[in-house]
Amino acid sequence: MAVPEKVLTNQDLEKMVDTTNEWILSRTGIRERRIVNESQSTSSLGIEAALKALDVANLKPGELDLIICATSSPEYIFPATASLIQDRIGANKAGAFDLLAACTGFVYGLNMAAQAIRSGSIKRALVVGAESLTRYVNWEDRNTCILFGDGAGAFVLEASQEPGGVLSSVLRSDGSGSELLTIPASGSKNPATEATVRAGLHYIYMEGKEVFRFATRVMAQSTREALAMAGLTLDDVQWIIPHQANYRIIETAARGLKMPLDRFVINVERYGNTSTASIPIAACEAIEDGRVKVGDKIVFVGFGGGLTWASLVAEWTGPSAPRKKVDPRRYRVWARLRSLLRRVLRFFEGIIWGRNA
Ligand code: COA
Repeated sequence: MAVPEKVLTNQDLEKMVDTTNEWILSRTGIRERRIVNESQSTSSLGIEAALKALDVANLKPGELDLIICATSSPEYIFPATASLIQDRIGANKAGAFDLLAACTGFVYGLNMAAQAIRSGSIKRALVVGAESLTRYVNWEDRNTCILFGDGAGAFVLEASQEPGGVLSSVLRSDGSGSELLTIPASGSKNPATEATVRAGLHYIYMEGKEVFRFATRVMAQSTREALAMAGLTLDDVQWIIPHQANYRIIETAARGLKMPLDRFVINVERYGNTSTASIPIAACEAIEDGRVKVGDKIVFVGFGGGLTWASLVAEWTGPSAPRKKVDPRRYRVWARLRSLLRRVLRFFEGIIWGRNA
């Protein structure tokens, strides 16, 4: 996982909009969130998380066959942020694409990668959930600006003869709710113009109450569906790792499932809603502190714009703790140098081709 160093607390927000720490805490469970600085972006966080995941998996970037970047805040409409990550980590044998299913994207991505491996067409995939969603936040809108934060998380999936890994998944969408959570302009329907910017249509728009109702309805239901598909029951599950949008949403889902809250991994208090990054960040923390152990059965459950939702049941077969604590600065420098070198090579290639033409 990778999160920006800059912390924005509820007390900071009190100075920006008409809100209070008490209101935010009681309605959402969020105390603080991380915010990208000017030099950070969706790909820079994704690169850092990707390199750490490869390190933990003991793989070289060149051994990857596929990179999926699930993101709600891609750096561009194209090229895909996944391609930027592929370049900067030096995964020169991997295909790369972005997956857009809003906050549910990471669960969709995990399932896509697992199925590609299961089909035999690839052996190793990197799934990244990366966001700099605060770049789309209207810092004058108290309904939304209190909720979101930035970060990234990444999983490496690998073909194996051992039982375990992804056991089942349920992916769903209901586009009739597309207007409940959206960035209304800057796509092809409403390209960015002076008028759209003046109207603030390039910011996140959300009908909070409706989204809340939808989220609490689908979480318990899709968890049960995915478990039934895997031939398991809730008693077989050690951990539920839900999308971290609001503590109260998780609480309601726990009630719906009749499961104690202490079997849910929850860190929304420290990061807010980091969209596609929230599930891998929560998973990463639970693995690092020893809560999730090899052999544990886990349900990842996500929901978000689209509307989309998904549940995925997995048996954790990966490492139970990182081999060593890694210094992210080392990765940043290394990634920058590598990309720079490739650009220089491309420059000389251009000169040689120009001469030959
Ligand atoms: N500080 C203080 N007051 C606020 C506020 C803030 N940051 N934001 C809204 N309010 C006010 C509203 O204006 C409203 O005032 P009114 O009654 O005078 O009109 C009141 O608080 C209640 O607002 P409401 O929207 O009904 O609050 P809520 O209990 O539904 O909580 C959310 C709002 C956004 C926290 C909640 O609806 C939510 O979490 N929804 C889901 C969001 C989500 O998960 N999105 C991402 C999905 S991936």
